[in-house]
Amino acid sequence: MKTMHKVPFERHETVRIGLIGAGGRGFGQLGELLACEGVAVTAVADIRPEAAERAAAAVIAAGQAPPAVFTGDTAWRQLIDSPLDLVYIATAWATHTPYAVAAMQAGKHAAVEVPAALTLEECWQLVETSEQTRRHCIMLENCCYDYWEMLTKRMVEAGMLGELVHAECAYIHDLRSELLRDQAEGLWRRQPHVDRNGNLYPTHGLGPVAQCLQIGDGDAFDYMVSMSSREAGLSAYRNRTVPADSPKRQEIYQSGDMNVSLLRTKLGRTIVLQHDVVTPRPYERLFLIAGTKGTFRDYPPRLFLDGVGHHAEWLSLESYKAAWEDPLWTNLGEIARKRGGHGGMDFIMNYRLIQTMREGLPPDMDVYDAADWSAPGPLSEQSVAQRSAAVDFPNFRRA
Ligand SMILES: NC(=O)c1ccc[n+]([C@@H]2O[C@H](COP(=O)([O-])OP(=O)(O)OC[C@H]3O[C@@H](n4cnc5c(N)ncnc54)[C@H](O)[C@@H]3O)[C@@H](O)[C@H]2O)c1
Repeated sequence: MKTMHKVPFERHETVRIGLIGAGGRGFGQLGELLACEGVAVTAVADIRPEAAERAAAAVIAAGQAPPAVFTGDTAWRQLIDSPLDLVYIATAWATHTPYAVAAMQAGKHAAVEVPAALTLEECWQLVETSEQTRRHCIMLENCCYDYWEMLTKRMVEAGMLGELVHAECAYIHDLRSELLRDQAEGLWRRQPHVDRNGNLYPTHGLGPVAQCLQIGDGDAFDYMVSMSSREAGLSAYRNRTVPADSPKRQEIYQSGDMNVSLLRTKLGRTIVLQHDVVTPRPYERLFLIAGTKGTFRDYPPRLFLDGVGHHAEWLSLESYKAAWEDPLWTNLGEIARKRGGHGGMDFIMNYRLIQTMREGLPPDMDVYDAADWSAPGPLSEQSVAQRSAAVDFPNFRRA
């Protein structure tokens, strides 16, 4: 089957978009899309009528024609079958692949929240459907568009850090109260902690690192090993905050609090990938990129360049911003920051998605990225279950 890598979109003067899932994330993303030029949100769907109506009202308030509104269990199917160019999926994890596959089979491009897939079979389904239908599947990995990630990628591409050898990344986000709520993510995001043990959310850390390492464009993930700590954080928090007679008190969480994976690439680079959403600590994604000439490390952002400055001290990035900032941030940073979605990266991501579709460019992130960056979910589970044995990455690109 012919690759979808670097395949351009057909040009769209106006991109007609249908949104499935207008909850916390979907409603936020809708606002970002409505702020982009050349977008018509023609349909919204949510199982909850009030969520779909709220989204429709936002479309109308932005000056657009009233969108088709679909609610109930078959809303997703009706939306996919309506006339549009891009199906934008912001539902719970389990529906990401099924809806993206259905959208592509109906002739639409699919943009899907993270992670795009939960199993290796789903990863393959996305790849094979995209190749067969010649429709793109873009995983909406917004962290690839954050300020420092984009700046670092430019430094890497210019050779500032030399030959890359190692990277570290993570999703460390205390979600305990969110996981135990009786609404929104609390309704579906805790169950994977009961059912699975591994890295449940690998893409925010891994996506930007994979782009710096040019995974799919010169290097490839080869194999990984993974280890989970014991579980303690979520159950302790639950026992402290949830009444003794709540059914939640019967849940047994399999997921270790900290999952650490080590990935090795075909070119011999190593990547540390962590996941922890249940211990009390500040948010971070680590984002360390190390090469023969220097290292970038975020949280807080800092740089070390061989032979520059004092040999034991990080450099401040202030004087590097002007030269290395991505032009998207230079040109759109003010509006992106004002909109505020995750510090501005949500706007930049959506702007780029629409820009590539309008101008007939290849997407920044394709179906192989969606599969590669989602795969450490199931692969980490396999490795953890086998006392951290090495597991191979599938060759989704068949390269
Ligand atoms: N990229 C990011 O920074 C980021 C941030 C938050 C959430 N997310 C992702 O976005 C997705 C949604 O998360 P959320 O926080 O909005 O969750 P949420 O529970 O607030 O919203 C999900 C919405 O989908 C609706 N829904 C559920 N099943 C549906 C179906 N079959 N058909 C139509 N609608 C359906 C629900 O009614 C709800 O309105 C998740 O995959 C999550 O991981 C990504």
